[in-house]
Amino acid sequence: MPNMSRRPFLQLALGAATLPVASRGTRAETLARPITMIVPFAAGGPTDVLARILTEYMRNSLGHPVIIENVTGASGTVAGLRASRAAPDGTTITIGHWGTHCLNGAIYQLQYDVREFAPIALLASGPQLIIGRPDLPAKNLKELIAWLKTNGDKATAGTAGPGSGAHVAGVFFQQLTATHFSFVPYRGAGPALNDLMAGHIDIMFDQASNSLPQVKSGTVKAFAVTASSRLASAPEIPTVDEAGLLGLYIAYWHGIWAPKGTGPDIVSTLSKAVMSALAEPVVRQRFAELGQEIPSPDKQTPAALRDHQAAEVEKWWPIVKSANIKAE
Ligand code: MLT
Repeated sequence: MPNMSRRPFLQLALGAATLPVASRGTRAETLARPITMIVPFAAGGPTDVLARILTEYMRNSLGHPVIIENVTGASGTVAGLRASRAAPDGTTITIGHWGTHCLNGAIYQLQYDVREFAPIALLASGPQLIIGRPDLPAKNLKELIAWLKTNGDKATAGTAGPGSGAHVAGVFFQQLTATHFSFVPYRGAGPALNDLMAGHIDIMFDQASNSLPQVKSGTVKAFAVTASSRLASAPEIPTVDEAGLLGLYIAYWHGIWAPKGTGPDIVSTLSKAVMSALAEPVVRQRFAELGQEIPSPDKQTPAALRDHQAAEVEKWWPIVKSANIKAE
């Protein structure tokens, strides 16, 4: 039982030690303690890459590093549970996306609510690429669909986990093209892409930020981008509409959250740190090279992320539920 009568004194004493600059109105109470950012997928994958670019620059305003911890498994739900149970004191935050903070709520029976986190900032969004192993005989999307129709019994698509965005996009693709193939779940799109390059699986519906470098170097084949316009950083890849598959649009947005109950001062400090990292020219350039579109500052705020997530939940949960996509 803590000695309650000593608490105010202890808090004052600790406050003096750990919150030296809060009163200067710049760096608040998160400053003096290490921050861990949970990345819900394997190292080297798209979410991990964005997290590492961002945290490198968040340290400028926070004054110390943000440590990345990859907590993988079950399409980000292992990390989601862990992040939801972390202390709401600014020491643990999580990066997530359309899959972890929208789809998972419709697909998994979770012990937390994907909408319960304290939003920090909306980062960026980018489409997927429909890609194949380098020696796949198909030269374009129509040939890929024809190949899948005759090889469906053995064709495989790598995903970032059961019910992940890659899996969901693959199910929509199957429905639109009347094809069938098996899904192979990984602990993230990074390891799945490695297996695609090695020819162990045939195709992926992959975030462009993950596969663009490999497409450029010719180690995977790109058939289409899941958007209505081509990517500025890869204008040679046709849109799904141009490639003959009307309307398979998938926009993967990323955000940062803290556990629910995190106080407004901490949220504000973290949000400012993310937003100033997103304003860095180097960060903007690296995100753009990865096909990521950063929203304007007024659309990066905690309120903007909360509204965006709510709108995505409203849009996608009925679609995913009626498509009967299961986490299996
Ligand atoms: C990853 O980092 O592995 C991805 O964000 C997974 C995904 O595409 O959902």
